[in-house]
Amino acid sequence: MRILGISAHYHDSAAALVDGGVPVCAVQEERLSRRKNDAAFPLLAIEWCLERAGLEPEQLDAVVFYEKPMLKFERILTMALRGFPRTWRSFPRAMKNSLGEKLWVKGIIASHLGVPGRKILFTEHHQAHAAAAFLTAPTRAAAILTADGVGEWATLTLGRGGVRADGGTEIAALREIRFPHSLGMLYSTFTAWLGFPVNEGEYKVMGLAAYGRPSMAAEVRKVLLRTPDGGIALDLSYFDYHLSARSSYSTKLLEAFGAARDPWDPIDLSTDRGRHYADVAASVQRVLEDTLVDLTSALRAETRLPDLCLGGGVALNGCANARILRESGFERVFVPPAPGDAGCALGAALYADRVHFANPWREVPDHPFWGPEAQPAELVRLATEDGLPCERHPEPELLARVANELCAGRIVGWVDGECELGPRALGHRSILAAPHSSEVRDRLNRDIKFREEFRPFAPVTTVEAAGRYFDLPPGGLRLARFMSGVFPVRPEWRSALAAVTHVDGSARLQALEREMAPRLYALLEAYGRRTGIPVLLNTSFNIAGEPIVNRALEGYSTFRRCGIDLLVAGPFVMTRRASARPAPLEEEIACSQSAAASGAV
Ligand SMILES: [Fe+2]
Repeated sequence: MRILGISAHYHDSAAALVDGGVPVCAVQEERLSRRKNDAAFPLLAIEWCLERAGLEPEQLDAVVFYEKPMLKFERILTMALRGFPRTWRSFPRAMKNSLGEKLWVKGIIASHLGVPGRKILFTEHHQAHAAAAFLTAPTRAAAILTADGVGEWATLTLGRGGVRADGGTEIAALREIRFPHSLGMLYSTFTAWLGFPVNEGEYKVMGLAAYGRPSMAAEVRKVLLRTPDGGIALDLSYFDYHLSARSSYSTKLLEAFGAARDPWDPIDLSTDRGRHYADVAASVQRVLEDTLVDLTSALRAETRLPDLCLGGGVALNGCANARILRESGFERVFVPPAPGDAGCALGAALYADRVHFANPWREVPDHPFWGPEAQPAELVRLATEDGLPCERHPEPELLARVANELCAGRIVGWVDGECELGPRALGHRSILAAPHSSEVRDRLNRDIKFREEFRPFAPVTTVEAAGRYFDLPPGGLRLARFMSGVFPVRPEWRSALAAVTHVDGSARLQALEREMAPRLYALLEAYGRRTGIPVLLNTSFNIAGEPIVNRALEGYSTFRRCGIDLLVAGPFVMTRRASARPAPLEEEIACSQSAAASGAV
């Protein structure tokens, strides 16, 4: 059975194709349109999925949209009526959005794809999140928590998934929290207050939190209330998002936390104001974590299941995920590579396959590489046209050369195979660098990523070596598979891993299994042989404000526009003229000696 899943019209549109119960491919629209977080109907992504699978639209058995537009419309209408007359300004805009593309999704799908209306299905938004989390995880029974800003009505669901003896799949929500009460909206509101873009800047809040103290947590707890049944409710007098499209917070929130930051003002942590922003970020982060730990602990007690699947944008919060693993009682916590709305395209298609059509449970390959494959030969053509050096190496020499260059402090663009689904580079579209010096980190921030200094870079290492450098609880390796948890760097390694250790001594680690990305794994081994430390700095291959590169062409364009020293795609290595020579021997020796001196052998 061939099922196309679609998510669109909010942020991060995507398409995914499932055939015979197993994903064939999936890609975010932004990777193809080159517009970051592209929310448009994902025509390019759909076209690519069909082409990749060799299908015509009429060969599809179903097309599944990731939410129910009528339910969403009902929510907007109901909230507008409840808030009248305060909502009269925002209502026309909300209506326009709903009555535009959002509500008439069926017609849009039918007209673009030429599929009959009877083949077009809808899942609820949080069903798609739950399916994306549970049906891609290597487990046959798990508790499920999904949390985001809002879907139709639900903002957080607690449930369970299981495979019956007859091979059928069940996904059931036990209870839900409804709009306007929302953990995601709480976090997004403070993201906006801190002057960061909502739906993109939430990472920045988490990064900034490490610089602060949760001294305002009691104030945040007045905003996020606990209900007698163990749920949550927001004190709505602090918010405006349910009443206005212009602002998410009210004057009461400004009275409690002070004036919002102007996005153009830099955050200077040496000033009282800068430290206050960091303290508020730390306080919101603390309250979010405490709440999720409470909710998941109760879910563990209720379901008595050892496995937990997390979905929704809130599951991108690696600090919260690590605390859930440590404190909730669950033995394993699974977070898919794309827990946000992009992953809902895959979730919706899998949900339709397993639940709507009741097809038997199938194991889903446990990797994030569902996108377009890089075409390294493109690089050769571009390099030749531009007169840049581009060399082809057999694999062992290529890995030795790249390891030497990394050892010498060079920054490497790494393009390999199929693009990742989700916001994280997990081995196929990465910028790699030595993890040892904070100078490399600062150079990356300044010359390549053009981003704030307080944002940390992540390390990647092998699953075998991870425990040596990072303090992982039981189950930590699983959470680190897709870089979904933040864990302490062992104190004795913090100076040797300065470029990937955050100010609080933590790191958002990826622990790589050889089978998932064999070339990066081999590079880690080669680097480890030279330095004694098989750890690299791994950040997504993009410049701030741009989507992660997809084709070799975009890798090349990014390479030309920023300070990356070396671009590797397949067997090809391209260098800037200035750094075209091999790494100097003295630097290699110095690098090995310093590693040996630190006891890393
Ligand atoms: Fe969502």
